[in-house]
Amino acid sequence: MKRTHYCGSVDVSHVGQTVTLMGWAATRRDLGGVVFIDLRDREGICQVVARPEVSKAAHDAADKVRGEYVLAVTGRVDARDKDTVNPKIKTGAIEITATEILILSEAKTPPFAIEDDITTSEDIRLKYRYLDMRRGPIQKSLILRHKLALAIRTYLDQQGFLEIETPILTASTPEGARDYLVPSRVHHGSFFALPQSPQMFKQLCMVGGLDRYFQIARCFRDEDLRADRQPEFTQVDIELSFPHEEAIFELIEPLYQKALGLIGVEVPRPFPRLAYKDAMLRFGSDKPDLRFGMEISDITEEMRTLGLEGFPAAIEAGAVARAIVLPAAVAPSGTRLRKINEELWLTRIVPDARASKRNLFTLKYTDEAISNLIKKGASEEVARKIFAKTGAQKDDTILVGVDAEGPIAMAMGILRLEMGRELKLIDEKAYKFLWIVDFPLFEWDAGEKRFYSVNHPFTAVLPEDAHMLDSEPGKVRAKAYDIVLNGMEVGGGSYRIHDSATQAKVFKILGLTDEETRDRFGFFIDALSYGTPPHGGIALGLDRLAMLLSGAGSLRDVIAFPKTASATDLMCNAPSKVRPDQLRDLGILLSRQ
Ligand code: AMO
Repeated sequence: MKRTHYCGSVDVSHVGQTVTLMGWAATRRDLGGVVFIDLRDREGICQVVARPEVSKAAHDAADKVRGEYVLAVTGRVDARDKDTVNPKIKTGAIEITATEILILSEAKTPPFAIEDDITTSEDIRLKYRYLDMRRGPIQKSLILRHKLALAIRTYLDQQGFLEIETPILTASTPEGARDYLVPSRVHHGSFFALPQSPQMFKQLCMVGGLDRYFQIARCFRDEDLRADRQPEFTQVDIELSFPHEEAIFELIEPLYQKALGLIGVEVPRPFPRLAYKDAMLRFGSDKPDLRFGMEISDITEEMRTLGLEGFPAAIEAGAVARAIVLPAAVAPSGTRLRKINEELWLTRIVPDARASKRNLFTLKYTDEAISNLIKKGASEEVARKIFAKTGAQKDDTILVGVDAEGPIAMAMGILRLEMGRELKLIDEKAYKFLWIVDFPLFEWDAGEKRFYSVNHPFTAVLPEDAHMLDSEPGKVRAKAYDIVLNGMEVGGGSYRIHDSATQAKVFKILGLTDEETRDRFGFFIDALSYGTPPHGGIALGLDRLAMLLSGAGSLRDVIAFPKTASATDLMCNAPSKVRPDQLRDLGILLSRQ
């Protein structure tokens, strides 16, 4: 038998035709001698009817069918009676009257129902991922992901980019996570690293004159996992030579417009841009969710001059005061506000503030509150200025946090998000892009007393800050940018250092000795000295974008065979122990079994 149609593609336009479908028996019902089978394939479900009077053989076969049997069905497309039409599915107005049914494969009873809405634990679903994959939501996500990758590939090809593969067995490229290592059998004691990104290779492609590179690249990072992180994930990795100031923005914004176009969403250009410093101040995050307002305001000066107990001292000691406004229409009750302080602020957001009783300070904008403040010694002008500065309207409530600048910015950012969610201020249907620019080049690790790259060590310095590289590296900003969608970092990149002297200097600032730099990056620094074009690039998280477009709750839903939150593959049982002779071949002796 030769398949003529997908189950999901037959409709009223085929009535009267003979078709052959192949798929899985989703359900089977015997209604007084007539057997109904819902036949399912990738494209949908189609009802098959086996009537003994039409074909005794087909009816006998239908009788033997059980859930998830694989069938080939030939039959005539008939319009359903009006009262049996199912408007919810594409094929709901027709049914196939079977003339032949062939059982191609029998099936054991699956460990969970193959239905769109199931409550089965994710561990079971991942153990039997090949069954989970038969369900509509996973199929839809994977189909969307395919379309997304295809659209991106086509777009980049049109823009003159070459798709180039780079090695998987390689040396470490620093992206801030731990490497996955692969021992060498030929060189005992030596290891390959799986790429955290193809960063150095794509830059070397620019040195090599390839001009415009892209790759839909698998990357590996051994880091703590979260819903938006997988140990093995995919980037749309891009690099171009001779980029002008706006090149990356002009290339990437239309790419995202095309991506959103796949789900029928139009996004306006240009995307807004925000300096890192302002993002931290106004949203307490380097990946602000712009689907709602509730911006954070700095009211340090007002809180200092207001003179409320505790505040001037804390502020004189270097703390800052930041506030968000809860609109009167949705503001929580006093009891809830106390709980927010107790259970959210002091428990989850700033647990170290509990001992010193640095509570979240609540102020409701009423005349009574103003006169209370005046009674406590505040001037009316300052009291009113607090509310004015936060943009609060009468009867709104403001929440004020006080702490050192870095910690309070982040804490207010988390509070803003939590309150946005709790008060249902987030427009779930919106897609809000934003570039974050002017990142710091380095961050100081006070514990280890050394600088780390905020992005990676190949990032160029913002020209106006270059003079501080030797004297005050902590103040230098990078020519780097992240792209954020709905509060998630979906891409990041930078213009690159393209001279070997600056590159060597950056490694020095990062605390690498000349010898370490030579050992790990000698080939790269050497390459830069053979005529390197100015270049820059970006990498876009394909899984994250697919997740946001398909409305999935986790990256795992848009990856065919994902890892669990503890970085294991429950289906293949990986990672797993290997045979002693394999270890012997690799020259590896385990310290504990
Ligand atoms: P970066 O480390 O910012 O940049 O990564 C780029 C994008 O990849 C996605 N991403 C991840 N997605 C899923 N799971 C993960 N564990 C994970 N880690 C990162 C994010 C992120 O924005 N070489 C540079 C790019 C460059 O400079 O061109 C890099 O890898 O969406």
